[in-house]
Amino acid sequence: MRVYLDNAATTPIRPEVLECYIDTLKLIGNPSSVHSSGQQVRQVLEEARESLAKSLDCDRSEVLFTSGGTESDNLAIKGIYWQRKAEEANRNIVISAGTEHHGVIDPIEWLETHEGAEVVLVPVNFDGELDLAWLENYLAEHHSKVALISLMWANNETGVVTDIKAITTMANSFNIPVHTDAVAAFGHLPTSFKDSGLAAMSISAHKLGGPVGIGALIVSRSTKLVSIIHGGGQERGMRSGTMNAPAAKAFALAGKVAIETLNDERARLADIKQKLVEQARTINPSLTQTALKARTLPNIVHFTLAGGSGDSLLFLLDQEGISVSTGSACQAGVNRPSHVLIAMGRTEDQAKGCLRITLGHESTEADIDALLVALPKAIESTLRAGLSSQ
Ligand SMILES: Cc1ncc(COP(=O)(O)O)c(C=O)c1O
Repeated sequence: MRVYLDNAATTPIRPEVLECYIDTLKLIGNPSSVHSSGQQVRQVLEEARESLAKSLDCDRSEVLFTSGGTESDNLAIKGIYWQRKAEEANRNIVISAGTEHHGVIDPIEWLETHEGAEVVLVPVNFDGELDLAWLENYLAEHHSKVALISLMWANNETGVVTDIKAITTMANSFNIPVHTDAVAAFGHLPTSFKDSGLAAMSISAHKLGGPVGIGALIVSRSTKLVSIIHGGGQERGMRSGTMNAPAAKAFALAGKVAIETLNDERARLADIKQKLVEQARTINPSLTQTALKARTLPNIVHFTLAGGSGDSLLFLLDQEGISVSTGSACQAGVNRPSHVLIAMGRTEDQAKGCLRITLGHESTEADIDALLVALPKAIESTLRAGLSSQ
């Protein structure tokens, strides 16, 4: 049996979600059709919207279904930017951070290259925490030119959690909309949209036991954005394209289970994480926990291996039947050090030696025991290879 410890890349679909997904796929009808078949599917979609809204503590009208986190990030960032520019042409500053997922970084860089945006990055410390005092000073001086802020709720590589409420409190006093990528956070942290003060929030089903290819952008009723996909005018004209009702229903169920079990799961995974972190300390002094002083998610553990390659560690553990990662799956296969660690002040060499262990609803202590058996030898071989290549 393989040991799967890469749940931040994607989680196994929950059995009850799979069953619900397959059952709903059998329904015939386009949710926009007026006949009864279509309306039956429309009802499934709207019930899913209602249920997801409950899990997120928002209004059902604030849920826009998308194809996933990347699309939601693009819609929020480009959509809010264009809306703000249309209202006030001088607002071209987009504030974000170097530790964001590429789903956020790339649309922002695109706006910089093609739409005259000025990108401003909040400084990040060695532990991956944002310098919020810097942000406060920056906003005090430049707020009249800021179009939007996009800062993630929790980091998918290091697990570092951001104080979203502190950011929205600062930004909302200047009427600056804040978008957050909550793909890593939703289902792993309490994420009440109503209490957050956010303008928009991206989430994705496959990070919490739902299917790949469905996500949502939660948009507050007071936030306006320009659509980036044009066509049939579905999802209040914000996201054209036939809605995927079966996937929406499966997503809503995965979200419901994740929220209902949130406290117990957080405690269970925190115990497993604690065991891993304590044991890892005894393996080799070159292996250290990243973001040690920061508040992190209970399901993500990130290590740095000084003088070793994360890619070879991944390969050696894979041979032992253990799936781990070095960072974001979106960059897998690309032999580049993690931009997240670089933004946290690591050198390219330091950033190449990383190992990310991420837990999910199926993870057990036995998975960590298996990792702890294989890890010392894998580290030793990786370090030896590193020395011989010098
Ligand atoms: C923080 C974060 N944002 C966005 C995404 C992209 O989500 P999706 O795969 O649903 O497009 C991911 C996926 O790895 C992620 O971890």
